Amino acid sequence: MADEELKTPEYMIDAEGLVKIYKTKETEVLALSGLDLKVEKGEFTALIGNSGSGKSTFLNMIGGLDIPSAGKLFVGGKNLFRMTESERVKYKRETVGFVWQNNARNLFPYLTAIDNICIPMRFSGVKRKKQKAEELLETVGMQDHRFSRLGTLSGGEQQRIAIAIALANSPGLLLADEPTGSVDERTGDQIFEIFTKLNEAGQTILVVTHDLALSRKVRRVVAIRDGRISSERILKESYADRLKESGVDWRNEETQEEYVVVDKTGRLQLPADVIEKMGGATGRLVVSYEDGQIKLKKP
Ligand SMILES: Nc1ncnc2c1ncn2[C@@H]1O[C@H](COP(=O)(O)OP(=O)(O)O)[C@@H](O)[C@H]1O
Ligand SMILES: [Mg+2]
Repeated sequence: MADEELKTPEYMIDAEGLVKIYKTKETEVLALSGLDLKVEKGEFTALIGNSGSGKSTFLNMIGGLDIPSAGKLFVGGKNLFRMTESERVKYKRETVGFVWQNNARNLFPYLTAIDNICIPMRFSGVKRKKQKAEELLETVGMQDHRFSRLGTLSGGEQQRIAIAIALANSPGLLLADEPTGSVDERTGDQIFEIFTKLNEAGQTILVVTHDLALSRKVRRVVAIRDGRISSERILKESYADRLKESGVDWRNEETQEEYVVVDKTGRLQLPADVIEKMGGATGRLVVSYEDGQIKLKKP
């Protein structure tokens, strides 16, 4: 239909010029400084960046845990700036699912795995809760532990249950903030395999990770620097299928193509290695354009 074609694509995440300022008694911290990011439905995106670059802040804004200071933020078509308290509660329960590095605040150690997964469904309209919980246990490979009390499970097993809990109300978007931050490499791989499988079934996922090796298996990796998106890496076509084979040495290979990101006003952040090769690049540079190439030169 012509009407359909006229519609702008519907993004799962649509952030533009997003700003977050934390005010403390003494200072103000600019945690997000005009961040632009669009994520389509069905994408699996990893967010990387140094400590303090704004990753958790961004995830918390998307998760509805905190309110941005300025800019635009739509998630699943919902405007995060224009939400009443009750809309926000509903949004957090139904639109997004959240997994943290340490999930203590979400888990009840004395309850069984299956009861923990049923808790978030109590206030939503999910029918056949036990059946849904069983399906989720299978998705995360924990069906044999359904009646185990969470407190008796290992950190990695609890993390898998945390993923099932986050998915209990079938959120359009799964958010995970360093979910492999406190587990060993093998468990980290397993968690990313669960994410990959979920994504193949259509789940949109945004995951913060400091593990560059793990990010090599993700189709799209965005890097955040000083509260803005500075660069993106996209999985090479030739690797997309090969990564499903076992025995592919993805940890040590360049599986992705790297790009810098230029915003609407023409701003970009030069990669650190380029700045180093130039012997530093602060202050004035001469810019020229020739044969489809932008060149920067010291005067
Ligand atoms: N609640 C807060 N109050 C004040 N400053 C904060 C708060 N949360 C984060 N910050 C600051 O915002 C910046 C970004 O932090 P954060 O988003 O946690 O980074 P990352 O997750 O990438 O390590 C840091 O300078 C941090 O100190
Ligand atoms: Mg963080």
